[in-house]
Amino acid sequence: MRIVSGMRPTGRLHLGHLIGTLHNWRRLQERADCFFFVADWHALTTDYDRSEGVAANVLEMVIDWLAAGIDPARATIFVQSALPEHAELHLLLSMITPVGWLERVPTYKEMQQQLEDRDLSTYGFLGYPVLQAADILMYRATGVPVGADQVPHVELTREIARRFNHLFGDTFVEPQALLTEMPRVPGLDGRKMSKSYGNAVYLADSAAEVKSKLSRMMTDPRRARRHDPGDPDDCPAYNLHRVYCTPEELAYTAHGCRTAGIGCLECKQIMIARAEEELAPIRERRARLAEHLDDVRDLLAGGTARARAAAAEMMTVVRERVGLRGGV
Ligand code: TRP
Ligand code: SF4
Repeated sequence: MRIVSGMRPTGRLHLGHLIGTLHNWRRLQERADCFFFVADWHALTTDYDRSEGVAANVLEMVIDWLAAGIDPARATIFVQSALPEHAELHLLLSMITPVGWLERVPTYKEMQQQLEDRDLSTYGFLGYPVLQAADILMYRATGVPVGADQVPHVELTREIARRFNHLFGDTFVEPQALLTEMPRVPGLDGRKMSKSYGNAVYLADSAAEVKSKLSRMMTDPRRARRHDPGDPDDCPAYNLHRVYCTPEELAYTAHGCRTAGIGCLECKQIMIARAEEELAPIRERRARLAEHLDDVRDLLAGGTARARAAAAEMMTVVRERVGLRGGV
């Protein structure tokens, strides 16, 4: 099994990334040949007018990956812009991709509406699913772990692969989207955890920050007073209990909630202590890595070399199939 997945460098990662994505990547690297990369060109499709920010976020994000247990000895970790092969494959795939396919991708119109402060009527933004197809097809991925919003992109990747194979001969593998049911990770206010909502707990947050943020996290509003019973199913904080607590702790807190036997703070403290068991070592590794950026760059160079070998091999085949030889 060959796995490819990318993440845009949006800045420091939070619990939503850790639980929603990195836990899954960590599991996958145990049993599959994984390529995980920083999709910095993808970030440029929306943030082309703030490219310094994109660049600054790249190492920051790789540090978070490594601290969270993404293991460069098992997975190939690299940065997209270090491999111009992706751009070349993107160009060749763009030749055979009908514009209508791209206009029909749901995220195209959605993101244009959501990010209305930016001009996204660009060629690059329309074509970014083709770039994503290049990322995936380059490494003959069989599986692409993504969130539900990205499934249409993997579908499109399959269609592009099929069309290329039809036109130029069997070259690419059609990948499957790996839709893991990711636990829902709400932010402190109950909405989706997101940097832009200011409701996130970061991997870089200190123990005190984590504690104070999670202590203030929204709970079932029915528990306005201590003696009002509540329902864990209506409590945003309890989603984190489900990730971190033991079955006994889950039973104890759920019962305590429904009978008003415990207060919300006591209930959350049990979860905070468990979450901290994962976060403390991540925080320590993170701090150590941040002081040894050259080591991080070395790890990336190793991953880039591995990715380059695979990409170069694929591009030799692709160029052969397309048949342009630079005039020779
Ligand atoms: N488009 C993805 C996102 O916005 C990131 C991404 C780029 C990706 N290339 C990929 C994901 C290839 C999986 C496979 O989150
Ligand atoms: Fe949520 Fe626990 Fe409070 Fe119930 S007692 S509302 S589960 S924090």
